[in-house]
Formats: sequence, C-alpha cells, structure tokens
Amino acid sequence: MDKRRIVSGIRPTGDLHLGHYLGVLKNWVSLQDEYQCFYFVADWHALTSEYKDPTIIAQSSRDMVIIWLSVGLDPERSVLFRQSDIKSHAELFTLLSMITPVSWLERNPTYKEMREELKEKDLSTFGFLGYPVLQAADIVIYHADRVPIGEDQLPHLELTREIVRRFNHLYGAEILREPKEILTEAPRVPGLDGRKMSKSYGNAVFISETEESLKPKVMQMLTDIKRMRRSDPGEPKDCNLYPFHDFFTDESTREEIQAGCRSAQWGCVDCKKILIKNLIAEFRPVWEKIEYFRGHKTLVDDILKAGCEKATRESALTMVRVREAMKL
Ligand code: TRP
Repeated sequence: MDKRRIVSGIRPTGDLHLGHYLGVLKNWVSLQDEYQCFYFVADWHALTSEYKDPTIIAQSSRDMVIIWLSVGLDPERSVLFRQSDIKSHAELFTLLSMITPVSWLERNPTYKEMREELKEKDLSTFGFLGYPVLQAADIVIYHADRVPIGEDQLPHLELTREIVRRFNHLYGAEILREPKEILTEAPRVPGLDGRKMSKSYGNAVFISETEESLKPKVMQMLTDIKRMRRSDPGEPKDCNLYPFHDFFTDESTREEIQAGCRSAQWGCVDCKKILIKNLIAEFRPVWEKIEYFRGHKTLVDDILKAGCEKATRESALTMVRVREAMKL
C-alpha cells in the first residue's frame, strides 16, 4: 500500500451547494482511486471568520460529513475526520508559528482581500492572520504529497512550502514534506441570479435539496436575459442556465436543446424541465443516502471516530520527529 497522500479540507460555514459538488467533491471522490486521502472538516479554520457566532459551524460540520458520505467519499478508503478532534494540528500550528515571519503572512493576498471584503466580520485577529500557518500544519502533519485546491488557495500552499523549507533548513533536512497542488479546474457554476453560486448571495442550489425544493429553484433561474418572449430565439452561450446542461445532460440532448433554443422551438420552461429531470436523476441516490445517514447518527459518529483514530496515529508519527527536531 504505497499510495501517495492527499490532504484537503473544507470550512463548515454553511450547506454545501452545487458549486462545491462540481468544483470540489466530485474531484475528491475520484482521487480516492489513486491516492490515500485525508479529508477533514476545517472547523478551526471556520472559526477564524465565524468566531462571533459559531452556531453555524456546529450545525454544518455534521451535515457536511453526511453529504461527503452520500456523494461517495468512502470511509473504508479515505480518512474522514474533524480538524478539532486532532489536537496535534494545534500543537504543530504553534511550533510552525515560531518560525513563520509575520511579513510572510501580511503579504498573503487572500489575507488582504478577505479583510477588505469582510469588513463587518472584523478579521483583524491573530487567528485570522495565522490562518495559513494552521493550514500548513494540517497538510504537513500527514506528509501530504498533494493538496487538491482551487486557484484561490495557491498562495496558501506556497506559504506551506516556504514554511517547510525554513523548518527543514533550521532543524534538519527532510523532516517535513513539501506538498504540491492538484489544481482542480473549478468550473464557473452560476447561481440562480447569474452571479457565482454562493450561500452568502442566497442564490445557491444545495446538494441536500429535495425534489420539492429543487423544482421552484430551477424554475426561477435566470436564463438568456435577451430572450424576452417565448417566440424570441435564445443563445445558450449567453444563458445563465445552460452551463448546467454541460454538467448534467448528455451530449445528444444538449445538441437538441441548443438547436431548439436558437430556433425558438424550445421555450425556457422546456429546457428547465429537462434540467430538473436530470438533476433529480443525479441526486436521487444522493438524497436517499443523506436521509439514511441522518437517520443513523451513530454510524456517522463511528465513522468520525475511526477517522479520528487513524488521523491521530498518523499525525503522532510526524509530531515525534518534529518535537525531537525542536528539542522538546
Ligand atoms: N483554506 C481552505 C479553504 O478555504 C480550507 C483548508 C483548511 C484546507 N486547511 C486545509 C484545504 C488544508 C487544503 C488543505 O478552502
């Protein structure tokens, strides 16, 4: 069993939506074939921005694991756990913070942007500045070879590598491993209103919808705004909804839709009905599993417990070497 290792996490700050499904989770699922994967709920990272009201973190942490299991993350093959269960992430965070220059953190573009964008959240905290150091600890504590991330996370991974190099330089070569990224080409997933799908915009279709909640959402979705009347021809390339057919509809139907739209033989409602049908086909098995896991809470607890044990064992090996290197 000499598979290479992957580590990745998601912050539990709300329900997972189709953007997560298409941009992250499907990829995580397929990586399980080739890699040994450590996937975790980054609840400490969520606290860096949600510290004033952590209720959402508690709620979405559990639900997130249920969704992971329901879309095909396999606890037999992957280690699924909660970051806050593995206290040694915090220990390594402390130790790495000793050698991380503040200037590296202050020049981090994500830090600057987020502080500006989320002014109302008051992110001028020590924890938020240290976010990438905690992320570095998450990654190197399992000797990850690869980290699947979106482009926005590249600066964080570069910082991880810089911290690793500094650590190895100071305390002995090859103690920590430098991880590389697996860049997931994040497809642009439009929300109901044409902006990027995001929980905070209130325009998201969640993975845990029901048939009843899904239909009206798709029906209200913006299409090609130039198409005012049913008799006007439309243009799939300018349509907010059409990209979903690329994800969920087979090729020959897509060709039919395109032709029908451009000749105004098809109306947007016809097109939406097909999408609804295909979304239901894709998600019905997922919804069934979600219901199953929601009804079997102890099963989810057991999976997290097993993940915690495995992650504890693996991280302990690294911590022995790190403490030794730092003469602790
Ligand atoms: N910062 C990541 C995000 O916002 C979440 C995260 C925390 C992470 N620790 C990680 C991702 C370790 C990959 C590896 O998406």
